[in-house]
Amino acid sequence: MTENIRRKFFLRTFGCQMNEYDSSLLADKLSSLGWEKTSKSEEAELIIYNTCSVREKAEQRVRAHIAESSALKRRKKGKTKLAVIGCMAERTGKALLNDYPEIDFVLGPDYLFQLPDLLNNGFKGEGIFTASKDGNVSVLSSFEPKTELSGKGISAFVAISRGCENYCSYCIVPYVRGPLRNRRVDDILSEVRQLVSKGAVEVVLLGQNVNSYEDGRIDFPDLLRMVSSIEGVKRIRFTTSHPKDVSEKLFRIMAETPQICESLHLPLQSGSDRVLTLMNRGYTIGQYKKSMELARRYMPDLCLTTDLIAGFPTETEDDFEMTLKAVESIGFDAAFMFRYSNRPGTAAERIKDNLTDEIRISRLNRLIDLQQSQAKLRNQRLIGKIAEVLIDGISKKDISEPRGKDRGGRTVIIKGANNLKIGEFVKVKIIGAGSWTLIGEVV
Ligand code: SAH
Ligand code: SF4
Ligand code: F3S
Repeated sequence: MTENIRRKFFLRTFGCQMNEYDSSLLADKLSSLGWEKTSKSEEAELIIYNTCSVREKAEQRVRAHIAESSALKRRKKGKTKLAVIGCMAERTGKALLNDYPEIDFVLGPDYLFQLPDLLNNGFKGEGIFTASKDGNVSVLSSFEPKTELSGKGISAFVAISRGCENYCSYCIVPYVRGPLRNRRVDDILSEVRQLVSKGAVEVVLLGQNVNSYEDGRIDFPDLLRMVSSIEGVKRIRFTTSHPKDVSEKLFRIMAETPQICESLHLPLQSGSDRVLTLMNRGYTIGQYKKSMELARRYMPDLCLTTDLIAGFPTETEDDFEMTLKAVESIGFDAAFMFRYSNRPGTAAERIKDNLTDEIRISRLNRLIDLQQSQAKLRNQRLIGKIAEVLIDGISKKDISEPRGKDRGGRTVIIKGANNLKIGEFVKVKIIGAGSWTLIGEVV
């Protein structure tokens, strides 16, 4: 009788879309092997945390969850398996086991797909699998999903590469995700076809720097065009772009291809050339601006979003004000803004610095205030305009109101229409706007 009861797993994901993508592939694999997903860690036989190392805070959050599950595991007297996978697993390795002996498996991003096999084989021994322990910089040369992909709803992530070798001086990602490895075009296209056959109408191409993609003579804009020619793909988005690698060809193909949304996430990080050099970003503020002028010439409705860091080591008040100025003059529709967080082993760690946390926090708050007001102004310019919205859910505030995304990626709450279905495209007139959310009514 017990054979009919499916073993349950709990999987919680931290960090970026790449982690979400990895988690969904892993969940597919576990499901195909007879596991059932649960949202309650107490009833799970297997607890998995897919982790992020990008900032110290991200790691602290993960640690709190591991501690909680360790206590749960002690109460249940060892019946539960606990796996910590992903970027923090790679970075922390064995030290994590020393802190939390209840952990059964520590698997870096290139090893996490081995988890189901390890469980099946009844693996005993020290379950640490990381590239740094192996002395092997890139284990997964390609990472073709071996299992059938389950439907991921109307919008699906597709990774086009793994890893990054840009080595921005503050960033841990190249150390935990390994060097850049591009997937083969054919594999990407066949994954997109499979997802479309399961109901996806939007695909989001993922990579740490999608613009450095290449497979033979095919570059990223070529790939975009190839994805757009797949029947059933109605919308294409991609993230993240790197300012040093965007090109006129990219903007032209975005503008020419109706399926590609006028949406670009292009992290600026700082408005000061001195800081950008210290960050090893490979562009100046002048180049960034020029490139965005060109992008907007091709796509006047471009929705431009960015990432900004406040308080990079040695950042002066003048440097910081240049970031504020850049925010004002470029005009971002949205921004993710972070206080600099020191990551062990990165080049920025070695830069001598006397900035205090107070300064960093206060600069971050000033930056957020400015950007929020800018975003609101930019969104208010959309009032009266018509937007194409892909319905993807219901409003969090009022469940009678459908919600969706416009082509720029902005959330639009739709008033006075409760007969819209998820996956439906509707034309709406924008009647209200906040810092990120728009209000619309069907026309
Ligand atoms: N590959 C992407 C994503 C990198 S991580 C890219 O290049 O944009 C996402 C963002 O986190 C970065 O753009 C940066 O703004 C921020 N970030 C990365 N490391 C950080 C650190 N040490 N402290 C604060 N913010 C950081
Ligand atoms: Fe990190 Fe820079 Fe690579 Fe982005 S491009 S993942 S910020 S090293
Ligand atoms: Fe975090 Fe790893 Fe993504 S460090 S931001 S989960 S690549």
